Amino acid sequence: MQHLLFSALALSAAADAYGSGSAGWDRAYSKAKIALSKLNQTEKVGIATGVTWEGGPCVGNTYAPSSIDYPSLCLQDSPLGIRFANPVTAFPAGINAGATWDRDLLYARGAAMGEESKGLGVHVQLGPVAGPLGKNPNGGRNWEGFSVDPYLSGVAMEETIQGMQDSGVQACAKHWLGNEQEHNRETMSSNIGDRATHELYVWPFMNAVKANVASVMCSYNKINETWACESDAALNNLLKKELGFPGYVVSDWNAQHTGVNSALAGLDMTMPGSDFASPPGSVFWGPHLVEAVTNGSVPQSRLDNMVTRILAAWYLLDQDQGYPEVSFSSWNGGKATVDVTADHGSVVRTVARDSIVLLRNEGKSLPLRRPKSLAIIGQDAIVNPAGANACNDRGCNNGTLAMGWGSGTAQFPYLVGPLDAIQVQAKKDGTKIVQSTTDSTSAGASAAASAETAVVFVNSDAGEGYITVEGNAGDRNNLDPWHNGNELVKAVAAVNKNVIVVVHSVGPILLETILAQPSVKAIVWAGLPGQESGNALVDVLYGGTSPSGKLPYTIAKQFADYGAGWNPALDDNFAEDIFIDYRHFDKNGITPRYEFGFGLSYTTFDYSRLSINVFATPGASNGRIVPGGAEQIFKFVGTISTLVKNTGKVSGAEVAQLYIGLPDSAPSSPPKQLRGFQKLHLQPGQSGMATFELTRRDLSYWDVPTQKWVVPSGTFTVYVGSSSRDIRQHGKFTVGGH
Ligand code: BGC
Repeated sequence: MQHLLFSALALSAAADAYGSGSAGWDRAYSKAKIALSKLNQTEKVGIATGVTWEGGPCVGNTYAPSSIDYPSLCLQDSPLGIRFANPVTAFPAGINAGATWDRDLLYARGAAMGEESKGLGVHVQLGPVAGPLGKNPNGGRNWEGFSVDPYLSGVAMEETIQGMQDSGVQACAKHWLGNEQEHNRETMSSNIGDRATHELYVWPFMNAVKANVASVMCSYNKINETWACESDAALNNLLKKELGFPGYVVSDWNAQHTGVNSALAGLDMTMPGSDFASPPGSVFWGPHLVEAVTNGSVPQSRLDNMVTRILAAWYLLDQDQGYPEVSFSSWNGGKATVDVTADHGSVVRTVARDSIVLLRNEGKSLPLRRPKSLAIIGQDAIVNPAGANACNDRGCNNGTLAMGWGSGTAQFPYLVGPLDAIQVQAKKDGTKIVQSTTDSTSAGASAAASAETAVVFVNSDAGEGYITVEGNAGDRNNLDPWHNGNELVKAVAAVNKNVIVVVHSVGPILLETILAQPSVKAIVWAGLPGQESGNALVDVLYGGTSPSGKLPYTIAKQFADYGAGWNPALDDNFAEDIFIDYRHFDKNGITPRYEFGFGLSYTTFDYSRLSINVFATPGASNGRIVPGGAEQIFKFVGTISTLVKNTGKVSGAEVAQLYIGLPDSAPSSPPKQLRGFQKLHLQPGQSGMATFELTRRDLSYWDVPTQKWVVPSGTFTVYVGSSSRDIRQHGKFTVGGH
């Protein structure tokens, strides 16, 4: 397991990975070239072409050649578990994995998902997600990814991919690039400036490529007016040349628009493929690609390159060594002939628990201490009475919310609702439970009136645009809690002086109405926790574990404060430029309600002994291209460290965060940007050292004129703290003899 992102080991692995004659991609390419030489033209094209939607057991399937021992490749959603199969584990969504800020858990979640994929015979698991990055707080699919911050997202991509691929499945980093909203996603152009492209949207994909991700999925939208899946600039130049991506590019489902252009631009596999004219967009390869190569429109070398990349990814993961057969079909209920779930429920519970963000805790009303009576209120406290999987692709918001909707889902094998788990604890404690499990304000108030403490559950859902839920066409219509959640909290707070609000949400919700109720003593943000929802919540509510999640995005006081949102117009010009989320709030002096990186604990932490040891030289990063980009970008250039002490009475975990401000010689930049973090688990009185390892990229901006990552000269500002605004230590260092 790789814990330190850019440790010496990681650096040497990156340096050796490709083009240097070592194991990994080089070995895989040698095998792929031998296999390629045995294939005829139809077989080559078949390896790059999907057999059509529902044409095989998986959501994507290719044609199997007969000349070599290579299967019909099985590509299957999703980023949080195996879609359309059961039993499988329904993991916490990416956004919760991101909220743990825990490298070990990110890896463990990836490894467990990868085991399930491999066990079921899935060759390619379609995740993880770094696009959308989440610049629009109301974007429908942000929860599939990890964080709106590219650094946090990048670390999460790297750990997740390493976990998945160590288990044997090919990961697929998606969606490349600029797919930030659901509205108009198949017609719009994301027009993104070059600097924002690199510093925000490409950044986490650099980590993905550096982690040797096998495949990348190009997105539905256009990038700067050209379809992502036929953009020479985005595929050939940016992804393959600049980032040195050795794997293959697969289209999003029906995101291909031309046969020849997409091939020339660098697309390597089309999905889901079809020999029929419907659905549109799937008729381009297959026999047409054979013809295009025959008539010279697509060079033979390009077809050979596609196939080499696809085969190399398969060999890279040793999938030629007795890989299991596909043991389920997506189209008949998904019943698998094997049970791959093992003890993954414990990974789910740990990630869900450690992603819970405690936003407010007045008068230490949490943890609960054997309350005499507890009112549990809101439909979000119970599992949908029609069943946790009652709606296709989780396309409804009935009962407790534990994942969003769309292709990025999996079937719950079971779902522990909050009330189920609280009842178990209440029995042990002798607590009387009063419940009102609808969103009725009057019923909620009458349940709450007699109880010592009332816990109100509210939620906010979102998903993929092919399903509309309660008027939300993927993207959210607003950032309010659904089902009149504000009114429900108000009604309960009017009759009970000790109210705890639990939020299950795909992203930020506006909390002003809730916070305006003096009776609301605590707010617990539980995100999208997956199948162990209730158990993880009880772990934190009752103090078995101190909350240790930190917000992976900003919670604003009002929607307009974000300065971004999904765009109803046909194109989006990404006017936010490099200033999204906290970068925007910091630059414009806007006070958020709860800032990026924020989260309370049941204990307290003290920071001391800031130590800065940076030895970077100014200028551009060059060097040969390794997976991820020019080699020097990833060069280790020093450490910053701080001592963190648990000064409270209970054990807990703190995410120490490093933010860096670039010197004045850099072009206008965010006041500070996350450039390191470490989660420390500390007993009362115990201290631990948080060490942030820096690479040249962490100190760089993307220089548009020279098209390089450049370390500016001058004085850098160092901020170390408990959130992006709770800065406990300041420092400086100088690069380039100032
Ligand atoms: C989504 C992808 C998904 C694919 C296959 C598309 O609609 O955008 O994320 O992997 O469908 O289900």
